[in-house]
Amino acid sequence: MSGGEILRLEGIDKRFPGVHALNQVDLDLVEGEIHMLLGENGAGKSTLLKILSGSILKDSGRILLRGRPVEITDAHHARTLGIGMVYQELSLVPGLTVAENIFLGRWPTRAGGLINWPEMVTQAEAVLGSLGVPVDPRVRVRNLSVAEQQLTEIARVLALDVQILLLDEPTSALSDRDRDRLFGFLRGLRGKGVSVLYTSHRLGEIREIGDRATVLRDGRKVGTVAVADAAEDTVVRMMVGRDIRERFPKTPVPIGAPVLTVRNLRASNLLRDISFTLHSGEILGVFGLRGAGRTTLARSLFGLARLESGEVLVNGGGIEVTSPEEAIRHGIGYTTEDRREGLVPMMGLPPNITLASLDGVTRAGIIDHREEQRIGARLVEDLRIQPPVLSRPVRLLSGGNQQKVVLAKWLASKSRVLIFDEPTRGIDVGAKTEVFQLMGRLCAQGVGLLMLSSEIPEVLAMADRILVMHRGRIAAEYARGEATQEDLLRSAVGLSGSGMEEA
Ligand SMILES: Nc1ncnc2c1ncn2[C@@H]1O[C@H](COP(=O)(O)OP(=O)(O)OP(=O)(O)O)[C@@H](O)[C@H]1O
Ligand SMILES: [Mg+2]
Repeated sequence: MSGGEILRLEGIDKRFPGVHALNQVDLDLVEGEIHMLLGENGAGKSTLLKILSGSILKDSGRILLRGRPVEITDAHHARTLGIGMVYQELSLVPGLTVAENIFLGRWPTRAGGLINWPEMVTQAEAVLGSLGVPVDPRVRVRNLSVAEQQLTEIARVLALDVQILLLDEPTSALSDRDRDRLFGFLRGLRGKGVSVLYTSHRLGEIREIGDRATVLRDGRKVGTVAVADAAEDTVVRMMVGRDIRERFPKTPVPIGAPVLTVRNLRASNLLRDISFTLHSGEILGVFGLRGAGRTTLARSLFGLARLESGEVLVNGGGIEVTSPEEAIRHGIGYTTEDRREGLVPMMGLPPNITLASLDGVTRAGIIDHREEQRIGARLVEDLRIQPPVLSRPVRLLSGGNQQKVVLAKWLASKSRVLIFDEPTRGIDVGAKTEVFQLMGRLCAQGVGLLMLSSEIPEVLAMADRILVMHRGRIAAEYARGEATQEDLLRSAVGLSGSGMEEA
């Protein structure tokens, strides 16, 4: 932290119907600092960033840029002021290519006004290259993985040459390696005097990259601390207003009969020789680096990716799953890493929550809305979904609360096998603990849980067994308590126990 103040917010206030999203928030950002913006789901972080990026308007308060009051009217205006933002829910246009997205609204032209496509691809290649992003600029965004989309989104903003960079959970879908690269890049920008306002639910990142941290709770500012002087527990207490005793509550559950058996699975030109058994009451962790095949495994079990060969047995019986409807009928549930896939954004909470258990709320082919409301209300209360307004369209919930709705959907279903892909992505510390407790409850009901996660501490603490994937195969298996963080990482990059690297 070296420079002077670049941005000052005074008494920023914003209400949505029924929610006081920001209540008299003050904040100052100095030149060349990385300032963490922290708080629970729904605390108001994204709202604050969106006001600065011009995508929503504040109700009242003052914004001073280098000491001069400004009214940020729209995203274009924010950009001319040197402010750029990476949105939490990705804002790329799926039907356009990576290059077209990176230069959206300012495509390079030739004399005569025609768009200069080769030039755009070349420039996009340069931007992606400088970030070390291995993505072809000619590919359409809809064909990218979530991580690749997130990297493209980041590249799009970094290509803008901004003075103030707003990053809303930029690393939630990134591998460790991509995150390290992003952090290297951010440190470089900081060295050049760029200021960064950064939100994350990954506590480790506060210390790793943050200079100062401002904590919001229920739309109010709790305080700003210098990261070097604040213990992690202090920051957590500021966020949730209480101490969290047990970060990873693990309920001991007796492990029962096999619920899912996979034999010699080959799929999607990536997975080979995948064999494992998941038992009732068991949490089977699946760890791996990006591209190792975890999500492909989940998608093939859920009928979203083509099986080439192999067997899948549920409760001892062989099944063939060629669509999600069939998977659900066989009692397999799947929460995707991209929560938007699991929700109907315009609908309220109960219809979303009962989406995977329509049989349970249908009487003679007609949806029993009273039953739907009853189930919805129970889970909203159980999971403490905020705000607990059943009729509110899920698209208006904060990111973490949307994730809770997805989990509620599978809690309401009668699934025996649940595949959770990054179940705590974007969820705050308190809610993470709640999700882990819910996982324990599901196991106690006899569900077998396949937990795909790239958060090593989570996998180590919660899984009864851990499979590590590398290049489409299962590279290692560990019993609970057997593996260290380093073991998982070594297996994930293809290093065997003796330290020999696979070519
Ligand atoms: N467009 C909107 N209409 C109505 N309510 C909204 C809208 N956008 C946000 N809210 C509400 O404002 C509050 C703050 O939301 P915000 O998205 O800023 O939270 P957040 O701190 O970013 O949470 P998360 O960590 O889950 O991303 C929440 O209660 C949310 O439901
Ligand atoms: Mg948010």
